[in-house]
Order: sequence, then structure tokens, then C-alpha cells
Amino acid sequence: MTNNKVVVVTGGASGIGLGICQLFARKGHPVAMLDLQRAALLRESAALREEGATILARTVDVSDRASIDAAYAAIRAELGPIAIVIANAGISEGIAFDDISVDIWQRMIDINLTGVFHTVQAALPDMRAAKWGRIITISSQAAQSGAMDRAHYAAAKSGVIGLTRSLARELAAHGITVNTIPPSVVATPMAEQGIAAGTFPPLEVIAQHIPIPRAGTPKDIAAACEYLASDGASYVTGQVLAVNGGMFIG
Ligand SMILES: NC(=O)c1ccc[n+]([C@@H]2O[C@H](COP(=O)([O-])OP(=O)(O)OC[C@H]3O[C@@H](n4cnc5c(N)ncnc54)[C@H](O)[C@@H]3O)[C@@H](O)[C@H]2O)c1
Repeated sequence: MTNNKVVVVTGGASGIGLGICQLFARKGHPVAMLDLQRAALLRESAALREEGATILARTVDVSDRASIDAAYAAIRAELGPIAIVIANAGISEGIAFDDISVDIWQRMIDINLTGVFHTVQAALPDMRAAKWGRIITISSQAAQSGAMDRAHYAAAKSGVIGLTRSLARELAAHGITVNTIPPSVVATPMAEQGIAAGTFPPLEVIAQHIPIPRAGTPKDIAAACEYLASDGASYVTGQVLAVNGGMFIG
């Protein structure tokens, strides 16, 4: 893989997405950090630029196609064609199924599933033109094992896995691979919010149930993204690469 390939990461201002941006930027890639959180985006992108990285930071809402299209136009103009897309932005919340209103359901699908659709589809013209592309979606173990009080989240993430597998078949002939990483427990602000809300056990408690007894880190997920984006992974597509310490083995 040549390190001049442009990388787009959604949810790049926090947690797993930030870890992915840091890894690719430090390897020399131009990185587009896209996120809803403006202040965190400005802070983290400035820190990476201080290290000498080439970063474009844009506020986007992945559920809004116009917002993605505008960001991609800026990326193409400032960094060049999009080669690697990591659709990572997402939300999570613990709610009993009976209490999931139609609005709560729809918001979850709009961000966690339709957001991936927008993020990926809008990048495809560049990848088709280059006859090379890497698409990595971040799904969740919730889609593999089910998750208590997260039926809407698990349903959206199951959709992400189905989308990933189908796209892998559709795009293989164009030199584009499509894979998904379903994390189990990663120490990020999302996990901390769940713990604070009482909808997620403390990480040290969960760690006792993981064969490799610790929570994952954004670096663990970023390393797998680096592999999937590499030329060495050119024969890997449609796969669910579970980077989870063995918490779910399926
Ligand atoms: N942390 C875990 O244990 C865990 C486990 C399984 C899956 N995941 C998945 O990993 C991904 C990253 O999660 P994280 O733990 O880093 O969470 P996080 O909350 O730390 O980061 C998610 C980022 O996505 C951004 N975002 C949310 N909605 C957005 C929108 N509509 N448009 C643009 N950006 C938006 C947030 O602002 C935030 O910066 C998510 O898709 C999540 O579902 C996380």
C-alpha cells in the first residue's frame, strides 16, 4: 500500500475512529476526519497536524446525504480521490424493546445503517475510477450474539454486516474489497457513557468474561483496519474480522 492514498474516517473525533485516524495519519496518509462533534474534531485534527500529518476535518452528520456529499467534494478538492473509507460513526443506547419509540428506532437506523450507506456509496465513483478501493465498516458483536436492551442497535449493526457482505460480492470485480470489524468491548467514550448510565457493566467486570482479559483499545481496531486496507489483504473481502479478545468466537 502506498501511503499517499486518501483515507476517510467517519466518527473520527472520538474513540475508535480517532484511533484509526491517528494510525493512518502517522503512517503518512492524508486523512479526512468527519464527525458531528465540532470542538473535538478541531482539537484532535489540530493535534495531528502538529505532528506533521495532512488532515482535513469536516463536521458532518452521516445520516444526511447532502452533508456527506459536501464533505466529499471538499476532500476531493483538497486531498484528492478517496481510496479508503472507514464507516465507523455510530451511536448506542440501552433501552428496553417496549420503550423504543418509532422515532428512537428510526434515528438508530438513520445513523448506524443509512449513515454507512451514504458514507460508502458517495465514495464509490473514485474507487471505481481507480479500480482500487478499500471499504471497512465498523459493526458490533451485538449483531453476532444479540444484545440486551439494544435491539434497535443490534438490528442496525446486523444491517451493516449484510450490506458489507453484499457489497463485497458486487464490488470485487472492480478491485474494491469490503470487510467489517465487529468490536465487542472497546474502552472509548461510548463505553464510558454506557457505564455511567448503568446500561453497560464496568470494563473490569466485563474483562473477566473475555479470554484475553481486558477491554479492547482503539489501537487494536485501527491495526486491523490497517491490515484490511493493505495490499496484503487484496484477497480478503466480505469478511467479519472479529477483533474482540475472543469474547465472541463464531
Ligand atoms: N466502544 C465499544 O465497545 C464498541 C463496541 C461495538 C461497536 N462499536 C462501534 O464502534 C463505532 C465507534 O464507537 P466508539 O466506541 O468509538 O464511540 P464514540 O462515541 O467514542 O465515537 C463515535 C463518534 O461518532 C460520532 N457520531 C455519532 N453520530 C454521528 C453522526 N450522525 N454523524 C457523524 N458522526 C457521528 C460521534 O460524535 C463520535 O465522535 C460505533 O459504530 C460503535 O457502534 C463500539
